[in-house]
Amino acid sequence: MPAPDDDPTDPSARPAGEQDPAGEARVVGVGPWEGPWPEDARYDPELLREGDRRNVADEFRYLTHEAVVAELDARRHPLHVAVENWQHDANIGSVVRTANAVNAAGVHVVGRRRWNRRGAMVTDRYLSVHHHADVAALAAWAAERSLPLVGVDNVDGSVPLETYDLPRACVLLFGQEGPGLSEEAVARCTAVLAIAQFGSTRSLNVGAAAAIAQHAWVRRHVFGQLPLRQEFHRGSH
Ligand SMILES: C[S@@+](CC[C@H](N)C(=O)[O-])C[C@H]1O[C@@H](n2cnc3c(N)ncnc32)[C@H](O)[C@@H]1O
Repeated sequence: MPAPDDDPTDPSARPAGEQDPAGEARVVGVGPWEGPWPEDARYDPELLREGDRRNVADEFRYLTHEAVVAELDARRHPLHVAVENWQHDANIGSVVRTANAVNAAGVHVVGRRRWNRRGAMVTDRYLSVHHHADVAALAAWAAERSLPLVGVDNVDGSVPLETYDLPRACVLLFGQEGPGLSEEAVARCTAVLAIAQFGSTRSLNVGAAAAIAQHAWVRRHVFGQLPLRQEFHRGSH
């Protein structure tokens, strides 16, 4: 019997475009191709015939899954996203979905091999998901590729994400709900970055934190925006 997060009857395991958040069926995407079919072998005959109801960007409509992945592979960003997975954290799927949206080079699950795919909405099928048994294995993998491990958490010794100049090629490492980044993870990171908070809560949901940190990378390395000055962050505004 398939495990809950691999169950094909699980609505959350279906292509995202087939369901709205309330779980009610709705029609999204495009219908059958109209007019003469394109000759390009990247087009999927079944999608051309039946329509393309996947939750993909318009430029990928009617392309085979393999063709979409090949196109994404050709333009991946050199950002890797890693998350510790010791407790089957349901938020990991959200981290993966954002990594797909950013077109990260890969996602790394550290700890338990099985991870909770709810929230990923099948986006994991469009990127490489690596598994590492522990942080040491992830660190070795990153060192072989000269990729710094940059932790994201609000622990003692963290520095502000907002004023840190994120490396272009790197691994952003996130902790999980409850424990946050493990001590070993913190020890392995070249820096640990904290996202500024101003309310009562100790921390953000890791899915939200991962979205903020990945978007900080996009602002820095896709849009060329430099980090804010320390003085601004400290409250001179
Ligand atoms: C709910 S937090 C748990 C631990 C957190 N250190 C605490 O003291 O409550 C789960 C994960 O979300 C990310 N996170 C949440 N809030 C964050 C923040 N303000 N800055 C950086 N990362 C954060 C981190 O990756 C963290 O490991």
